[in-house]
Amino acid sequence: MRILTGIQASGRPHLGNILGAIRPAIKLSKNPANESFLFIADLHTLTSLKDGKQLRENTYAIAAAWLACGFDADKNFFYRQSKLAGYHTELMWYLNCFTPFPMLANATSFKDKSEKLGDVNAGLFTYPVLQAADIMLYDAQIVPVGKDQRQHLEMTRDLGGAFNRQYGEDTLVLPEAKIDEAVMTIPGIDGLKMSKSLNNYIDIFLDEKELLKVVKKVVTDAKTLEDVKNPDEDNVFKLYSLVANSKEIEEMRANYLAGGYGYGHAKNALHAVLVREFKEEREKFEYYMNHIPELEQKLQEGEAKAEVIAKSTIQRIRKKMNLDD
Ligand code: ADP
Ligand code: TRP
Repeated sequence: MRILTGIQASGRPHLGNILGAIRPAIKLSKNPANESFLFIADLHTLTSLKDGKQLRENTYAIAAAWLACGFDADKNFFYRQSKLAGYHTELMWYLNCFTPFPMLANATSFKDKSEKLGDVNAGLFTYPVLQAADIMLYDAQIVPVGKDQRQHLEMTRDLGGAFNRQYGEDTLVLPEAKIDEAVMTIPGIDGLKMSKSLNNYIDIFLDEKELLKVVKKVVTDAKTLEDVKNPDEDNVFKLYSLVANSKEIEEMRANYLAGGYGYGHAKNALHAVLVREFKEEREKFEYYMNHIPELEQKLQEGEAKAEVIAKSTIQRIRKKMNLDD
């Protein structure tokens, strides 16, 4: 199966991204029957982030995180959308001409963003059309995404269907969304969904001291060290349960229920287990961030491989449209 997914470069990847998206996608990519396309959607990111230096830093951090978490860039396709912008935006234009205005105007993510953001630009409006192009440019069959992307995938299929009715059913491949309802929502340090936009995230790639500072900010109730505590209502315990092993989790549960064990102790334990469980990922991430030319080379190799596919799809489409012989 041809699997494809894109990640915006709107910040550094956090624990929620890693457990909710990166690890499951890497697992899928390890199946020898699959061919995985993983790209950094930096053109999409431009709809909300204009600072080029920041965008590039985020792009490298995201690329480093995927490699650090075990994505095999040599077996798969790993690239920046902006480096293949010619192909992505060419297909986007063709699809634009098949996109009914109300489809974009009524899209939930556009409505959401236009209420929240000060900068409501045309890129934000046509965002789903670029996403449809990203997907169909590589004949992707399966697109693993979060629930919030369901509508974008429906739009992709609608646009692909309309295009195929005009130019022939074998012009574009219509993708299926793969939305894993079982993936749990990782809570942030305040107990709400961990998210960059809520600024409640844990960046597991911080150095140990900085990571401890973040872990110390996890919100708890006001119980004292002596008090008996309810593990099931505590954010430190919830986060700990996502990373520690079952014996450790049971021990912490017992400590909470016995009293005489403070949230400070639990936070130190959470920090220790994060450092231990992500040891290899943290080391590799640091390595790549200190060896940007190596990261650049991996991306450029991926871009050369992806270009071969993008180019042949565009050639096929242009012929179907009678733009070329
Ligand atoms: P953020 O909310 O931090 O901006 P994104 O929307 O960029 O994160 O999400 C990137 C990917 O990570 C998506 O596939 C999303 O489903 C997943 N993800 C983000 N936050 C969480 C979370 N708290 N729990 C589980 N998965 C998450
Ligand atoms: N819109 C997606 C998100 O915010 C990112 C994205 C861009 C994407 N192009 C894509 C995801 C193509 C899957 C396929 O998460």
